Amino acid sequence: MALSRSFFILIFVLCLYSLPNISQALSRAPNRMLALVQNQPLVLQYHKGPLLKGNITLHLLWYGAFTPTQRSTIIDFLESLSSTSARGSPSVSSWWNTTERYSGGRCSIVVGNQILDDTYSVGKSLKTKDMVSLSLALNPKLNSSPDTQVVHLILTAADVTVEEFCRNQCGTHGTHGTGNNKNNIKIAYAWVGNSVTQCPGLCAWPFHQPLYGPQTPPLVPPNADVGIDGMVINLATVLAGAVTNPFEDGYYQGPPSAPLEAVSACTGIFGKGAYPGYAGNVSVDNATGASYNAVGVRGRKFLLPAMWDPLSSTCMTLV
Ligand SMILES: *[C@@H]1O[C@H](CO)[C@@H](O)[C@H](O)[C@H]1NC(C)=O
Ligand SMILES: *[C@@H]1O[C@H](CO)[C@@H](O)[C@H](O)[C@H]1NC(C)=O
Ligand SMILES: *[C@@H]1O[C@H](CO)[C@@H](O)[C@H](O)[C@H]1NC(C)=O
Ligand SMILES: *[C@@H]1O[C@H](CO)[C@@H](O)[C@H](O)[C@H]1NC(C)=O
Repeated sequence: MALSRSFFILIFVLCLYSLPNISQALSRAPNRMLALVQNQPLVLQYHKGPLLKGNITLHLLWYGAFTPTQRSTIIDFLESLSSTSARGSPSVSSWWNTTERYSGGRCSIVVGNQILDDTYSVGKSLKTKDMVSLSLALNPKLNSSPDTQVVHLILTAADVTVEEFCRNQCGTHGTHGTGNNKNNIKIAYAWVGNSVTQCPGLCAWPFHQPLYGPQTPPLVPPNADVGIDGMVINLATVLAGAVTNPFEDGYYQGPPSAPLEAVSACTGIFGKGAYPGYAGNVSVDNATGASYNAVGVRGRKFLLPAMWDPLSSTCMTLV
């Protein structure tokens, strides 16, 4: 679910945008198209189920080879979500704070256990059921004392293939059962893969030429790593989905099996004026030429996707 189908959505959005574009380009000013698209109300319905709120601990499994630099980039992103010490604005935490506007108040993310599995303990080709067993390994006490205030996060390295990865998803989130009869308590998990060698045109856009659609030059990634900066975008997408639609009855639009969620409903939008092939107006670092729109702990820069805002019913961008 979740970010799943993200590039199908992109294609869908492409069609959505290009229809009015073609018919109107003949008779009206081109920017009319953007005005029209922005005015379409986007509503994610709340299906009245529980969301993840309060203090949520993120237990993390690094599956496969990640360099220390790659790990610190992602950890800095995760620690920035609920930090008050960003050095710069707009901050990653102001982006994450939009999740507070979803029913039930604040969700603070704390990084919990980290496990490095660089021996590929279940091989280099994973299935969804492997995600569930890897996820359980993150929290061995789970069966005896189930803690539902957690997300089990699995990050797979560039040389790991995952069922459906690069076909219809760049990452996903879901739940697995635990507790005395194995299924009475649901625990959220999320997964994101490094797409750099497998499908950067699908999962690391706008840092790589897009596989489909209008071709625009790629942006320079803020942490100088196409795969990892792409993972941050997908991680932002699945985490926002996991906390606002953890059990398939939170906020989403469309069918529950292929929902458009907090960030996946806003696919392809990073700054104002975005349209298919163009990420929108974001900041560029003078020294490196890197594109970014958010600053986190230790001055770290990131490019984060727009998130749907329940108060204004729009995809909110940071800059
Ligand atoms: C979350 O953790 C902080 C710091 O440990 C604590 O002050 C706060 O009361 C906790 N909030 C909830 C809702 O448990
Ligand atoms: C995010 O929300 C928290 C709690 O409401 C607040 O303390 C913090 O200042 C907010 N951060 C930003 C950057 O707005
Ligand atoms: C992009 O944003 C900057 C800063 O907000 C602004 O000065 C600039 O005019 C914008 N550019 C475009 C093309 O909208
Ligand atoms: C970037 O460079 C432009 C022109 O060279 C300058 O006006 C601007 O202040 C610089 N921005 C930063 C953040 O250094």
